[in-house]
Amino acid sequence: MIENKTIDENRQGEALVIEDGNVGGKKLFLESYGCQMNYSDSEIVASILSKDGYSTTDKAEEADVILVNTCAIRDNAEQRVRQRLKDFKKLKRKNPDMLVGVLGCMAERLKTKFLEEEKIVDMVVGPDSYRDLPNLIGQAEDGHRAINVILSKEETYADITPVRLGSNGVSAFISIMRGCDNMCSFCVVPFTRGRERSRNPESILAEARDLFDKGYREVTLLGQNVDSFLWSGGGLKKETLTDEQKASSVNFAKLLEMVALVSPDLRVRFSTSHPKDMTDNVLHVIAKYENVCKYIHLPVQSGNSRVLDMMNRGYDREWYLGRIESIKKIIPECGISTDVITGFCSETEEEHQQTISLMESVVYDFAYMFFYSERPKTLAERKYPDDIPEEVKKRRLAEVIDVQRAHSAIRIKGMVGKTYRVLVEGISKKSDDMMMGRNSQNAVVVFPKQNCVKGTYVNVFVDNCTSTTLIGKVID
Ligand code: SAH
Ligand code: SF4
Ligand code: F3S
Repeated sequence: MIENKTIDENRQGEALVIEDGNVGGKKLFLESYGCQMNYSDSEIVASILSKDGYSTTDKAEEADVILVNTCAIRDNAEQRVRQRLKDFKKLKRKNPDMLVGVLGCMAERLKTKFLEEEKIVDMVVGPDSYRDLPNLIGQAEDGHRAINVILSKEETYADITPVRLGSNGVSAFISIMRGCDNMCSFCVVPFTRGRERSRNPESILAEARDLFDKGYREVTLLGQNVDSFLWSGGGLKKETLTDEQKASSVNFAKLLEMVALVSPDLRVRFSTSHPKDMTDNVLHVIAKYENVCKYIHLPVQSGNSRVLDMMNRGYDREWYLGRIESIKKIIPECGISTDVITGFCSETEEEHQQTISLMESVVYDFAYMFFYSERPKTLAERKYPDDIPEEVKKRRLAEVIDVQRAHSAIRIKGMVGKTYRVLVEGISKKSDDMMMGRNSQNAVVVFPKQNCVKGTYVNVFVDNCTSTTLIGKVID
């Protein structure tokens, strides 16, 4: 998901705050990079520290503690964080008591190296160690540099109610699992987030109900591979379950249905689906419930089977296209998006063209596109030379982006002339007289304000569009 994919690019690195009236208490400046899971984790961090007397601030200069929740997915994600630490170094020169901590995936990847390389860092805290933060801050206050990067096989923070940061009060994330067991050869996530574990469905449902009661109308269920969600009552490990035990466990299709039943007025989204594990059962649940959004993010990475095999993705081109065919058959109106990597090790020009031809056959609504960035310790780094010159990787990326731009335009234009149920998310960024929301397919819709209220549903007839946005009018 994103170095930052689905979080609005503009929000990357934004300090997220809540107004909580903690006057005179300790101040926390919390900045997040990376995927939705990282943003969701920051909400857990804010919750843990609010119990320890911290309130959030959006002014780094007035903070007692600065925490940066980092991403390691590509080299440029890490460079951004390094750059940002230079700003904090200046602040710390003025206020030497200020503490700076790095959290998240880059902290987990670099461990003690972070303390050696970046002298201003006081704390290094991995994604499974956030409960230890009050203690680590205590150590740092006592003048010790503090580190906890122990990964857990159990931690899901299930009992912690996240403090919703930077929220519009309408949409919220719910983490349903952590870690990843897939070992795609290009990917650092299994090393930074550890083993896959699912969260108790009861705690997921309780969080969804609580959000609904507080006025939220959309939840996004988060995991690196949501289709592999599996909860067996006894807390048994997935690998040790018999087929019978698996059948009586809660899988993703069941979980999705349980969350959909919280209320017909609570929209349910999820990310990320994995082509090798996405079942037709999940597709049937999406089709059955109006409030489960008709939108699937299904990362392909490459359209060539040899490259997919080297990537260790667990599917080939034909399998992937088969999953797309199922989506189009079971949920004809479904929006589909993807992730693409260009210039993976040894990718030939013909293989790159196969990625483009796959895109031509799917016609995605949206895509997140990257050129390959070799990551230390990954399978690909150990096994395959990173042999595609950067200018070739970038040229191929530009070609893929051009194709996608045309396809996004086709998909958006195809929605003009239709009426959609839209969840009102707030005032449009461009004009105070307009409101914005999304349709089930995740397309942004803007429309005149009239009497529209945030957090309610309206039917919008779409009569126009830009290259990325639908424009319409509310109808009765
Ligand atoms: N769990 C998700 C992806 C998480 S990472 C999945 O399996 O689909 C988000 C995206 O970043 C990936 O889908 C991939 O397209 C991209 N990515 C991951 N590692 C990368 C690397 N080393 N270089 C370039 N892009 C990468
Ligand atoms: Fe990375 Fe693959 Fe896991 Fe996604 S499924 S997080 S790409 S290892
Ligand atoms: Fe997410 Fe980046 Fe970590 S994409 S899981 S924050 S490496």
